[in-house]
Amino acid sequence: MNVLIAEHAGFCFGVEKAIEKAYEEIDTNVINGPVYSLGPIIHNHQVVEQLERRGLRTINEISDAENGTVIIRSHGVPEITYKEIENRGLRLVDTTCPFVKKIQRIVSEHHAKGHRIVIIGNRTHPEVIGINGWCNNEGLVISETHEVEKIPHDETLCIVAQTTMLIGLFQSIKNELANRIQTIHWYNTICLATQDRQQTARDLAGKVGVMVVIGGKHSSNTKKLAEVCKGYLPNETYLIEKYTDLPLGLFSEEESVGVTAGASTPKKAIENTVELLRAISTGDKWQIAIDGPAGAGKSTIARHLAERLHFVYIDTGAMYRALTWYIIENKCEMDNIDQIVTLAHSVRIDLKQDRVYLDGKDVSDEIRSLQVTEHVSTVASIKDVRKAMVKLQQKIATKNHVVMDGRDIGTVVLQEATLKVFLTATVEERARRRFEELKNKTETTYDEIKKQIEERDHADETREHDPLIPANDAVHIDSTRLSIEEVVEKIILLFCDRIKLNSRK
Ligand code: F3S
Repeated sequence: MNVLIAEHAGFCFGVEKAIEKAYEEIDTNVINGPVYSLGPIIHNHQVVEQLERRGLRTINEISDAENGTVIIRSHGVPEITYKEIENRGLRLVDTTCPFVKKIQRIVSEHHAKGHRIVIIGNRTHPEVIGINGWCNNEGLVISETHEVEKIPHDETLCIVAQTTMLIGLFQSIKNELANRIQTIHWYNTICLATQDRQQTARDLAGKVGVMVVIGGKHSSNTKKLAEVCKGYLPNETYLIEKYTDLPLGLFSEEESVGVTAGASTPKKAIENTVELLRAISTGDKWQIAIDGPAGAGKSTIARHLAERLHFVYIDTGAMYRALTWYIIENKCEMDNIDQIVTLAHSVRIDLKQDRVYLDGKDVSDEIRSLQVTEHVSTVASIKDVRKAMVKLQQKIATKNHVVMDGRDIGTVVLQEATLKVFLTATVEERARRRFEELKNKTETTYDEIKKQIEERDHADETREHDPLIPANDAVHIDSTRLSIEEVVEKIILLFCDRIKLNSRK
């Protein structure tokens, strides 16, 4: 896979300056009290979290700051906010980007002359709210070409744009207003960093099969970059916040992938994404094996993982159901073990995106029939059937990227898995989860379920064949205090780092 990076991608100078200033303030400012950022310093969770861990406090209102220093981020603020900061006796560190400052100045000057201010931008974006605050909030904000109808015909206009607007939108609004005879002062205030990023993203999207845009989901310039790329690759543009968001299963066959990033995306986020994309182009098939005791949440986690990564989830239960349905269809008696085993060896089962195919036919609905439910455990208890199914599971895993869960996946079924996880939780927590799941469906108590789980654990750990033991190279994850999303995120991070590490060898 050829991974190409846009010539202009990632941090712009305005964001870099804001971050630098924030670090400088929290690291060196020991005499001026706490350091606040009015709103998240940039639209990037990871960077904001890092700074907050170092001591930066994010506030939404000036009144939330009691003393100390307030940093105004690169988006800028309304004029009145400066007065509020002064009135509360707070120290001010202003990192408003010079491009934004220039717009505020233009707006303020034209407003003073009595001109009508029109701002092309997103009215809820902090930068636009800030700009409007320099003309007494009397500016008219428009974000679509058809909104030009709202612009009065009888006033002198001053038209500016949010710094991250699409240049195409600015031009089309200008064209729409071209035949007006009134005086219009036009200012193309889209910043150079935005224009460069959009142009080089456009150039790249025209050359590759897939585009990855990295940046915060709330970042205006990142969203605009994704829009630019979607103009070329409507279904092949992926907007991600971090490398663990990549739907890896969709990328492994790609020949060329382009990468760009918004102005608030750090260099490290781009490097990590590019390294992972390059690491997955080996043609290998990846396997994530999840083992663990009953009630640890294995199948839920495995399904979520498969969905996030676009891998095949090997649903062993569905496979046994498909075989049972096949046995019934072939009019084989349930006590004819030899014929059942023969059928188990001849059946062809495929799993694709939650659907189950038997000899090419989608049987996902048929395998849920009562008749199948009645016989499936008999079929699954036949040792030679289990052997045949393991072979089939291994075969599926050689042709697809897979996630599989069970009790002997890492030790028996997928011994060479890329990542093996042993998922646990305390007995109490597993019993609680099971109880929550069953309490409205059946009459049971928490204590009964807890007892069953303890007995099951004992049986699993002491059984003669393939007892429940973690593979030597399995990573242990205790999910007792973690949400499903946290466990999934943890496993994806481990998996991505494992792939990157393997590729460096
Ligand atoms: Fe400034 Fe443009 Fe960056 S306005 S903060 S240089 S995206």
